[in-house]
Amino acid sequence: MKSEILQPSTDSLKALSRIAQTVSCIQEIEPLLKKVLEIAIQMLTAERGFVLLKSGINEKGFVVKSSSNLTEAQITSLTGVSTSVAAQVMASGESIIVSDADIDPKYRKNDSIVLQKIQSIACVALNVNSQNIGIIYLDSLTRNSKFTEEILPFLTAFSNQAAIAIENLRLVQSLREENNCLRIEIQRGQELGEIIGQSAQMQKVFDVIKQVADSDISVLVEGDSGTGKELVARALHTNSQRKDKPFMALVCGSLPDSLLESELFGHKRGAFTGAVTDKKGLLEAADGGTFFLDEIGVLSAQIQTKLLRVLQEGEIKRIGESRVRKVDVRIVSATNKKLTDLIESGDFDEDLYNRLNTISVTLPPLCDRVSDVPLLAHHFLDKYAKKKQQKITGFSETAIDAMLTYNWPGNVRELKNTIERAVILAREELITPTDLRLPEINKSTASLETETATTLREIQENAVKKALKKHDGNIPEAARTLEVSRRWLQYKVKEWGL
Ligand SMILES: Nc1ncnc2c1ncn2[C@@H]1O[C@H](COP(=O)(O)OP(=O)(O)OP(=O)(O)O)[C@@H](O)[C@H]1O
Ligand SMILES: [Mg+2]
Repeated sequence: MKSEILQPSTDSLKALSRIAQTVSCIQEIEPLLKKVLEIAIQMLTAERGFVLLKSGINEKGFVVKSSSNLTEAQITSLTGVSTSVAAQVMASGESIIVSDADIDPKYRKNDSIVLQKIQSIACVALNVNSQNIGIIYLDSLTRNSKFTEEILPFLTAFSNQAAIAIENLRLVQSLREENNCLRIEIQRGQELGEIIGQSAQMQKVFDVIKQVADSDISVLVEGDSGTGKELVARALHTNSQRKDKPFMALVCGSLPDSLLESELFGHKRGAFTGAVTDKKGLLEAADGGTFFLDEIGVLSAQIQTKLLRVLQEGEIKRIGESRVRKVDVRIVSATNKKLTDLIESGDFDEDLYNRLNTISVTLPPLCDRVSDVPLLAHHFLDKYAKKKQQKITGFSETAIDAMLTYNWPGNVRELKNTIERAVILAREELITPTDLRLPEINKSTASLETETATTLREIQENAVKKALKKHDGNIPEAARTLEVSRRWLQYKVKEWGL
């Protein structure tokens, strides 16, 4: 009976074009091998098959990567003996076609061929640059699909194409892994605890934290909402000798004044209606540790005075008590309001400000440190992809561009939320701009025009930013527009970390 195998001229071309298409859209090795095997089986009207790839992890040097209609035991018997067809192709890198295995004197006594009643075998080597990286094995148990030597040129072309695709994907994968490792390495040198940042501005912040963490001086952390003020407060605590003592945080605006006072300083039983027992305040509870006062700008005058006493004398008085208690707490405070403005309007005590602000750390808005955006984005991607067990390996180039040009009014918090959502929405291995769902805002104009510059320095900085943008960062040209000297501009660009 005549076999129904392919007509080399048309069908083989179709198969070759299919494999070319497959190669361009599959990004993972396993699905690629599955597809390669599927196409090969279909084209030869084979019944069973498998793909082995060379691997350094077992002594045989080849591992099964994909199979169809074959059990593990059957594959072992087809590859285990050195006289088997598969073993010979693995050893020589030369393809073998056996048309009538049951009568072929070379193979008819072969155990697996007899036991599995194999009629025809086609086994091709996957060769790249004269190196054998694996094999594709196909067989048929019926006489209907007899493989002949005629199919060899087609099979060789097919397997060469598949081999290149496999090798390319392996290369991409190893580059991806290397890239991940390098990124983690880089990140290690660019973080302080949980705080990530490689920009010059963040490096300055890290330097200050490292310098002052171990002292008891009060630190005022300034920055817009979502810039990481709380993270800095925690880092100051965890990098100090107080790290094993409590870290207590209170958002000053979260409670009405009367409650806030008793929360902070504690009260004596009967001091006011509802004070049924003596209560220790949070400042006392934080003894030996760090106290983080968030949104300090909203404190009332009364509480400001009491707080000043804590800072000046290290003492507190519970409400309704005359006894003075010593407390040893380090105060870190944060604000997204300009305290100097509040002092001017009489809403904030200057002495308290000076005490809180022994040293200040200012966190710049994210749009002023764009070089941190990709690093933070990858950090959050690793975190959320791991949490959701999703295989997302990175961002498309256009997604990175979109993140770099967006102005991030909600700062790092907004970036974090954006990535968390994108991980849920992503359908591919790489996050796309569609997954990010960023609002359409033009970064540079938005950040410059919505800014309400009040000080001379802010006005100057804005003018410099605009001029630099207009001239694509060209300092001599920007200096000419601003009518300042080139040296002055260079000095300012460095000073402001632009
Ligand atoms: N540099 C950073 N590296 C890693 N994560 C960051 C960084 N900055 C901020 N985050 C994350 O962004 C979120 C917002 O940070 P955080 O709460 O510290 O901001 P904040 O300045 O206190 O904001 P708000 O003024 O609104 O209270 C947090 O989930 C934090 O973990
Ligand atoms: Mg906060």
